[in-house]
Amino acid sequence: ADYETITVEQRGRVTLITLNRPKALNALNSQILIDLLDAMAAFDADKGQGCAVITGSEKAFAAGADIKEMQAQGFAEMYGSDFFAGWEQFTRTRKPVIAAVAGYALGGGCELAMMCDFILAADTAKFGQPEVKLAVTPGMGGSQRLTRAVGKAKAMEMCLTGRMMDAEEAERAGLVSRIIPAADLIEEAVKTATTIAEMAPLAVMANKEMVNAAFETMLHQGVQFERRLFHGLFGTEDQGEGMAAFVDKRPGNWKGR
Ligand code: HXC
Repeated sequence: ADYETITVEQRGRVTLITLNRPKALNALNSQILIDLLDAMAAFDADKGQGCAVITGSEKAFAAGADIKEMQAQGFAEMYGSDFFAGWEQFTRTRKPVIAAVAGYALGGGCELAMMCDFILAADTAKFGQPEVKLAVTPGMGGSQRLTRAVGKAKAMEMCLTGRMMDAEEAERAGLVSRIIPAADLIEEAVKTATTIAEMAPLAVMANKEMVNAAFETMLHQGVQFERRLFHGLFGTEDQGEGMAAFVDKRPGNWKGR
């Protein structure tokens, strides 16, 4: 499909989605949400695709929600339309999604990166929740996901002052999984996504689901949830194939069932 605000490209089993509103530093407006949700649904439904990468430009992953679109809104419109609620749908994607962040990931941009399953950061990446400077707060989950990712001290300081974290600090704090030289970001992200996309698809989905459960449950329930999903995979053909392939010293040939 052709989109107004993003481009979508398939590289083997990897779907590469590039945010494409260069004049607004990829500010997230309603059209980007519509386009992204449509692209994510198509990706999730496509049996040939195993992992997605979302990226922006060299200068900005996304510089926030679109301030010009929100500027004239009042409480009745925001609350009445449950503004930003649509982004929850994004987090229901069942296959893995990697954020490849170069340049600014601010406000909604940082929040979108955190909605992905993990973040690969270019050495140029800058993360921040500067909403307080606009006399508002994060609205796409930032206060919750940033706190879970980096702990209260850093999250609180960032939300209260609006200061940015560079890639080094973000890696030390656990916000990003790795730093990559900017010139290699896309190539390395697609390579990582390809590694994931070549694993047995049901096992990949189950791994994603159980790591995410760590944020929603107490330890005992989370561990039990893990064990049940683990047991469940012994009902798949791919489990038999995976273990046979190990014993035979050959790569597995996955059926996705
Ligand atoms: C709309 C934006 C935008 C945004 C940048 N632009 N960010 N438009 N929404 N979030 C537009 C600018 O208006 C400008 O358009 C063009 O993109 C280039 O931006 P510049 O500011 O000229 O670039 P630069 O000087 O390099 O500065 C980059 C920047 C700065 C530091 C990232 O743009 C910036 O501070 N942006 C806002 C960051 C922010 O506050 N984000 C949080 C938004 S609120 P023109 O037409 O002038 O060329 C949010 C949370 C939502 O995300 C929840 C609360 C409701």
